[in-house]
Parts: sequence; structure tokens; C-alpha cells
Amino acid sequence: MKKSLLILTGHSKGLGRAILDAYLQKDEFEIIAISRTKLGLDNSNLTEISIDFGDLEVLENELASLFPRGDYKQVLLINNAGWIGEIKPIGSLQFKKMRTQININLLAPMYLTNAFVSTYKDSEARKIICNISSGAASKPMEGWGVYCSSKAAIAMFTNVAAKENTDGKFRFFSVAPGIIDTQMQDEIRQADGMDFPQVERFKGYKENGDLSTPESVAAKISYLLENENKFHEVIQDVRNFDLP
Ligand SMILES: NC(=O)c1ccc[n+]([C@@H]2O[C@H](COP(=O)([O-])OP(=O)(O)OC[C@H]3O[C@@H](n4cnc5c(N)ncnc54)[C@H](OP(=O)(O)O)[C@@H]3O)[C@@H](O)[C@H]2O)c1
Repeated sequence: MKKSLLILTGHSKGLGRAILDAYLQKDEFEIIAISRTKLGLDNSNLTEISIDFGDLEVLENELASLFPRGDYKQVLLINNAGWIGEIKPIGSLQFKKMRTQININLLAPMYLTNAFVSTYKDSEARKIICNISSGAASKPMEGWGVYCSSKAAIAMFTNVAAKENTDGKFRFFSVAPGIIDTQMQDEIRQADGMDFPQVERFKGYKENGDLSTPESVAAKISYLLENENKFHEVIQDVRNFDLP
């Protein structure tokens, strides 16, 4: 049986960890998982690679080795790694942190998308790229200037990629995953109310049990990628569909 390939970023925790666990259960998948942290899981289908996307030189040098060539049935790229960054109003942001955040949230998925399309353009495999964006891509949030901008930009990049690939050889999705109970939400709840006026609302999501579990969101992303022909738009929000 032909193998399938998943390249996943940000697999070490949160949503990425749940996506990893969902795909580890699918025996036909070879998985290349990239974060700074390696989990050290003992699974012959999994190759973990440690790269800090804050430093693009490292990613650039490793790019060619990240995408194995082979006679795959399907190849999937899920750009999930992300950082909420410094939660402060514009005017108080540190340049280095702004640059690091754009590297992680925008340039790293752009590099990986570009290299993926270049590597697999002649492959007969089913080919899907899923960039994890956010509802914040279309909703300005005080204190999240770089985050909102990076997520809006990756959504637009995904839209452009889809427009360039109308022959249907690749499918592209930019997915807002909803509000998920992960370390990123912990960081958001720790923000200073002066810098992030909506902090109490986000504390309320946790207290009222309104956060999605990473597992439930991973199941929806997996469903989307397995049933891509049911989803016609590039921009998707997991809150807009239920699992059958
Ligand atoms: N949680 C939410 O409510 C929410 C809402 C909307 C969108 N999202 C998006 O969903 C995605 C996953 O978020 P999450 O909540 O699961 O976040 P998380 O729990 O903070 O996990 C982030 C993942 O990204 C990786 N990562 C962070 N910085 C990195 C770096 N410099 N280099 C390489 N990898 C790095 C982390 O791995 P290491 O630390 O090991 O490097 C980790 O695996 C993100 O793109 C986020 O923007 C989340």
C-alpha cells in the first residue's frame, strides 16, 4: 500500500500535539514533525526535527531536507506553529520580538508552503496545505497588533497560493481553529489588563468551560483534510462545521 506523508509544525504541545496524536493513529502516515522541542516518542512513523522558527537562517538551510520525495498517495503540510507574542499596544513593542513573531507566524509557513509546492508540483499525490490562521486575522484585538497582522497575512498568502493553483493539483486552506485550551490561552490570560483590555473576557472563557479541547479541533482539521472536496473556500473556521 502507498504511504501518505504529513509535515506538521508546532507538534510539541497544544493543537499541534493533538493533530500529531490523531495522525499517529493513521498507520499509513509517515510524519515529519517540527518544533523547538522534541517529544521523544517511540514511533517508527514519526521523525521529529528541532528547529527554532525565530531564526529563519536555520530553516532555510534545512528546507531541502524536510520534504522527502517518494511515490506518496497523499502529502499534507500543516503549518500550525505560532506565537501570541508580546501582548502590548503599538508604541510599546520591542523590535526583536516583533521580528521573531513574524518569523514564526508568517515567514516560516511562507517558506514551508513555497518549498512544499516546489517539491511536490510534479507529484501525482493528493496535495493539501493547511495554514493555521485565527479569527484574529479579521478581527482587530488591542495588544495583539503583530499577532492579528501575521494571521491576516498568512490567510492572504494562502488565498494567493490557491488562486495560482486553479488546476486543482494542490488544495490550500487557511483555518481559524476557534478558541482552544492550550498554553497560548494561558499566556493570553496572564496579559496585563492595561495592555489587553479584553483579558477578563478571555479569563471568562476558561472559567465558563467555553474553550475547545485541542483534540476536538484536531478531529475537525483531520476531517477537513480527508474531505477537502466538501469544502470549497480557502478560508475556513472550524466553528462553522460539525463532524458527521
Ligand atoms: N489556542 C487558541 O485559542 C488559538 C486560537 C486561534 C489560533 N490559534 C493558532 O493555533 C496554532 C496552535 O496554537 P496553540 O494554541 O496550540 O499554541 P501553543 O500551545 O502555544 O503551541 C505552539 C506550538 O508552536 C511551536 N512553536 C512556538 N514557537 C516556535 C518556534 N520559535 N519555533 C518552532 N516552533 C515553535 C511550539 O513548540 P515549541 O515550543 O516546542 O517550539 C508548540 O508546539 C497557532 O498557530 C495559533 O496561532 C490558537
